[in-house]
Amino acid sequence: MRTRWILSFIVVVLTNIADAQKIKLPQIVKDAALQSNVMLESITTAREGNTALISPRTIENGKLKVVPSKDWTSGFFPGELWYLYAFTGDKKWKTKADSLTTLLQKEQFNSGTHDMGFKMYCSYGNGYRLTQNAQYKAVLIQSAKTLATRFNKKTGVIRSWDFGTDVWQYPVIIDNMMNLELLFAATRLTGDSLYYHIAVSHANTTLKNHFRKDYSCYHVVDYDTATGNVIKKMTHQGFADESAWARGQGWALYGYTMCYRETRDKTYLQQADSIAAFILHHPNMPEDAVPYWDFNDTAIPNAPKDASAAAVIASALYELSGYSKQRQLYKKFANKIMLSLTNNYRSAIGDNFGFILIHSTGNKPGNNEIDMPLSYADYYYLEALGRGKGRGKGK
Ligand code: GLY
Repeated sequence: MRTRWILSFIVVVLTNIADAQKIKLPQIVKDAALQSNVMLESITTAREGNTALISPRTIENGKLKVVPSKDWTSGFFPGELWYLYAFTGDKKWKTKADSLTTLLQKEQFNSGTHDMGFKMYCSYGNGYRLTQNAQYKAVLIQSAKTLATRFNKKTGVIRSWDFGTDVWQYPVIIDNMMNLELLFAATRLTGDSLYYHIAVSHANTTLKNHFRKDYSCYHVVDYDTATGNVIKKMTHQGFADESAWARGQGWALYGYTMCYRETRDKTYLQQADSIAAFILHHPNMPEDAVPYWDFNDTAIPNAPKDASAAAVIASALYELSGYSKQRQLYKKFANKIMLSLTNNYRSAIGDNFGFILIHSTGNKPGNNEIDMPLSYADYYYLEALGRGKGRGKGK
């Protein structure tokens, strides 16, 4: 019995090594660099002289959609340029990354959004990690300070959206877990534990209220600020209130893996393992391991895929494989995702204005960004690529 177990373990390890070798880092980075050159040119054209437009988000009506710094996606393309610099060491990418990153500077004071982590940690956070630029450090600290103003002691969580006050009172979305990385970093950078405590409170309250018995999660939880109680649980971007929106499950997996990295609290590791089990063993997970946009869309298998969810999940699984007893299983699944994305979900060089991946879904219920390239799919794909090869942050 023991011998059989050892043999199958060796087979899994060897398969993982073989799969990892099939993901050819130098060629993919070379292709990503070519596409990013195309993107830099496409941005200049699409801006039509409007310098407030900074980062690419998607393709809309056949045109590249470039968004201003306040958009939640503005940090992803600068982050991709930092990853290219990290992969190649080529100063050209540092120069480009520097110039796009600094265009987001004013966002450090924007208290009207919870998306501070997405915007500033993907751009300035990677920039600081790779350059130790003191100005970047100052921007990150101010960004965390601003984000902390959205924390409410009564609810114990950071408010997500300011819009929709007719629908909810104090909405918190699962995506918000991603912003905690900035708060953990701010405590390290300042020595002030306030940010850490806010992050832990948010993670604990979300763990209590956002998850179902099967460890899938709701998209939105609405809180009563007078009592701190939950008013309702619902969706905004998913198929139904009780469904499992694929990217949301990805944010949850990534969020609790990162919280374990930052705190070493075993509760977060168990949570991440349980979320991973829900995702990996879901009966509607397709053979190629790139999920449909929502695990419960009744149109499956005739539903759009979401390559962005796949990239987030792959990146999280590579990191989680470094902490969990399920190391080989997570590596195997992440490799499978990365092989699928690499072989079947990449743009041809020169196509799609320079986006790397195709077939993502941003907001299906909003009839928006369905089966499209999305900048965050590209960002997490490159991040996962680095993590899978033992490079980059959270490796
Ligand atoms: N944070 C928004 C999204 O995942 O679409």
